Amino acid sequence: MSGNRTFTMIKPDAVGDGHIGAILHRINENGFKIVAMKYTKLSAEKAGEFYAIHRERPFFGELVAFMSSGPIVAVILEKENAVQSFRTLIGATNPAEAAPGTIRADFARNIGENAVHGSDSDENAQIESSFHFSGTEIFG
Ligand code: RTP
Ligand code: MG
Repeated sequence: MSGNRTFTMIKPDAVGDGHIGAILHRINENGFKIVAMKYTKLSAEKAGEFYAIHRERPFFGELVAFMSSGPIVAVILEKENAVQSFRTLIGATNPAEAAPGTIRADFARNIGENAVHGSDSDENAQIESSFHFSGTEIFG
């Protein structure tokens, strides 16, 4: 059975480009409820820990530098079939390949600086939510 929560970050490019409000609006318009939210900044160490699964990839250094380059918005979202539904809303990793009307098609700069993160499984949604929030910061 699929879960009803996912985790997202509005990445430093979209924050810097002034898209926080527009992206949150898009998220709400599509039926997601915000149950936790934090405006914060990742250290390089924390960014590396968050994306540890990509440690061996050639873009890892770039990814860590980018994700720690400026503030982010960390958010836990609730909706039926949340993980899959949110991945559809954000579009493909590369905004050039993202479907029209998706968040990445409309707000991302390029494949590396791609506006938003979205969890890829219920298990990772749980792990990533716990990475950023304690139980008392979640209002479900
Ligand atoms: P995310 O985890 O951030 O939601 O992105 P994703 O699932 O769509 O893509 P993933 O394969 O998990 O990659 C994580 C992030 O690494 C950066 N990336 N850069 N330069 C490149 O070829 C490249 N490929 C991936 C992106 O920021 C991507 O979102
Ligand atoms: Mg991913």
